Formats: sequence, C-alpha cells, structure tokens
Amino acid sequence: MRIAVVGATGLVGQRLIRYLLREPAFAGAEILPFASERSAGGELTVEGQPFTVLSTAELSAHAPYEVAFTAVGDQLSRTLVPELREMSRVVIDKSRTFRLDPEVPLVVAGVNDHALREHRGLVANPNCSTIELCHLLGPLRELSPTRVLVATYQSVSGAGQQALVRFHRELDQIAHARDLDEKVLSPEMLAANLIPQIGHLEEEGYASEEEKLSEESKKILSLPHLRVEATAVRVPVFVGHAMAVTVEFARPADPAEVERLLRASPHIRYFPQAGDALPSPLTAATHDQVEVGRLRPSRVFAGGVSLFACADNLGIGAALNGVRIARALVREGQAVGGESDG
Ligand SMILES: NC(=O)c1ccc[n+]([C@@H]2O[C@H](COP(=O)([O-])OP(=O)(O)OC[C@H]3O[C@@H](n4cnc5c(N)ncnc54)[C@H](OP(=O)(O)O)[C@@H]3O)[C@@H](O)[C@H]2O)c1
Repeated sequence: MRIAVVGATGLVGQRLIRYLLREPAFAGAEILPFASERSAGGELTVEGQPFTVLSTAELSAHAPYEVAFTAVGDQLSRTLVPELREMSRVVIDKSRTFRLDPEVPLVVAGVNDHALREHRGLVANPNCSTIELCHLLGPLRELSPTRVLVATYQSVSGAGQQALVRFHRELDQIAHARDLDEKVLSPEMLAANLIPQIGHLEEEGYASEEEKLSEESKKILSLPHLRVEATAVRVPVFVGHAMAVTVEFARPADPAEVERLLRASPHIRYFPQAGDALPSPLTAATHDQVEVGRLRPSRVFAGGVSLFACADNLGIGAALNGVRIARALVREGQAVGGESDG
C-alpha cells in the first residue's frame, strides 16, 4: 500500500506520518512524504524512522496512491487535490477548500463516519476547533442542540510551523528584555498576548475561523438549523485548543443527563465538577481524547448547559482524524484492495 503525505514537513504532516506508523491497519505501507521544492531532498525523521522529502512536482512519478493526505494551505489544495484524485483511490484533504462542497463528505471520525459511504475519491477533514466541538455535540445529538455559543482559545500551533517559530522568537525576546518597555511588546505579538480574530473577516464581521465552526458543524452533525455563534481567539499556548461552550437543546436537559451522554463517548475524557483536575490544553495535547469539564446549567438557555473543553489540535483535531478516516475506508475496503480482495 502506497500512501502520499503532502505537506509532510508541516506540523500536521509530521503528525500524520507518526499516526500512520503507529496504526496497525497501515503496517508495512510505503509512506511517501512530499513538500515544497525548498524541502525536497532533505531528511525528515519521524518516530526514529528517516524519510527523504520529495517535491510535489514528483507526485505523478510515484503514483498511484491508495491514500493521499494533503496537509497544505487552501490555495495549494485547490490545485493539488484535483490532480491527486486522478492518482489516488482517495484523497483526505485538511484544508478548508472542499469542506462545504455538497459532493464531498466532511467527516469527524467517530461522529459521522456514515458520510464516508458517499465519498467520490475525496474526503474533507474539518477545522481543528470544529472537530473538537463536534466531538462534544455529537453525543448530545439526541437532545437536539439548537443554539451554541462558543469562545475558542486556540494555540499558536494552529497557525502552522512558521507561527510557532515566531512565537519562540518572541518568547525569547521577552525573556531577554531588561524591562517590558523596551519596545519588545506590540499588539500583533503572539507571546504575552491574546488576538481576538483568527483569519480574515467575512460576513457581518465574523472571522473566517468563526464561520468554519458555524457552517462545518451543521454539515457534520446533519443539523442544518443549528445556530453557532463563535468568537475565536489566538492564545499564547504551544499546542492544544480550548473552548468555552454554552448549548441550548430543543429538549431541555439537566447536567446529569448531559454528563451521562458525554461519559459514554470513547472520544471524551470527562472531568467531574467536584474533582480536583480541570481540562487543560497542556494535558489534552498528550493524549487522543477531548477533555471536557466545568459542566453546569446554563443561566441563559433554560435546560441548556455550559462547559469547557480542550483538545490536541494537531492530533484529534487534525492528523489523527485524517488517519481514522483512512482506517475506516480501508476497513470498508473503499480505499484499498477493492479489486484484488474481491
Ligand atoms: N495546525 C493545525 O492545528 C491544523 C489543524 C487542522 C487543519 N490544519 C490545516 O492543515 C494544513 C497544514 O497545516 P500545518 O499547520 O501543518 O501547516 P504548516 O506547518 O505551515 O505546514 C505547511 C506544509 O505545506 C507545505 N507547503 C507549503 N508551500 C508548499 C508548496 N508550494 N508546495 C508544496 N508544499 C508546500 C510545507 O512544506 P515546506 O516545509 O517545504 O514549506 C509544509 O509541509 C492547512 O490547510 C491548515 O489549515 C491545520
């Protein structure tokens, strides 16, 4: 089985390779890492295994692929994905480009896997915060969520490798400044700061990251009337996205019922209100579940609840979701071995 990882040198790409190497369904697969001309010929080591990086110009030379992952920017996906579809049984794309296309399944593994049955060689991976929110709302679907208020606290790694490099540099500048008046601080900084807009502004002053949460959640949960009002904020955290969520249900629920439903999900690590521990991006970034806690009745939506969640944006929020989608397709025989396995 040959698997292409395009954007392999990036934060999501490297995680993809790590999960692929750990996943028994892909044992023995040949993993081919692709990136830009800048990285081509360089070495990439993941889980102690060395890989030579290939240029995307060489994609056709190594085709066909059983699965191709694209973990590059929106613009590049727009041109590369159609080309890769010609060379692959299935492409799993991490960008925003195809997510709302009605012909393309948008899947959170464990929440709406059934949508994979309709794939036509392309599956879209949702936004990292959307995946986290849908892991929360998925188990609560039987209560019919109607309105959601969500404020996200998104780590710097969500903006990619270059942002992390800049974050490290800024932290270093602050650490070495004699005092903070030394023109070290500026409102654009990621370090020691909060930035209350992620992405460009779209309709009615909502930022693109907020629109993704709102529109993608409806499609994934098959709740076209769900209203999601989001405020997305970049915070000075390395990895792990957090969110404060308030949910209204068509069928009023009490926190005990919501807790029971959340605890039943294998994708959620539940933190009881009376316990000592709290969800945290630091701990959430060390495992593959969404941490959920601070559950309490909403004082705004009667019969609704408020809670707090954290998840690894690079793992369950991106790479792991992609690998789970690929694994589900392999198990269904939709990605690999269709002819030879009969
Ligand atoms: N970070 C997250 O938490 C997260 C979560 C969900 C989805 N996503 C999405 O996943 C995608 C990748 O994100 P990321 O955070 O991994 O970004 P990143 O760290 O900036 O990595 C970008 C990757 O794209 C490659 N690339 C850039 N320009 C290229 C070109 N012209 N030709 C070929 N490859 C090129 C880079 O290769 P070089 O090293 O050679 O430049 C690198 O491998 C984006 O669409 C992002 O929106 C990210």
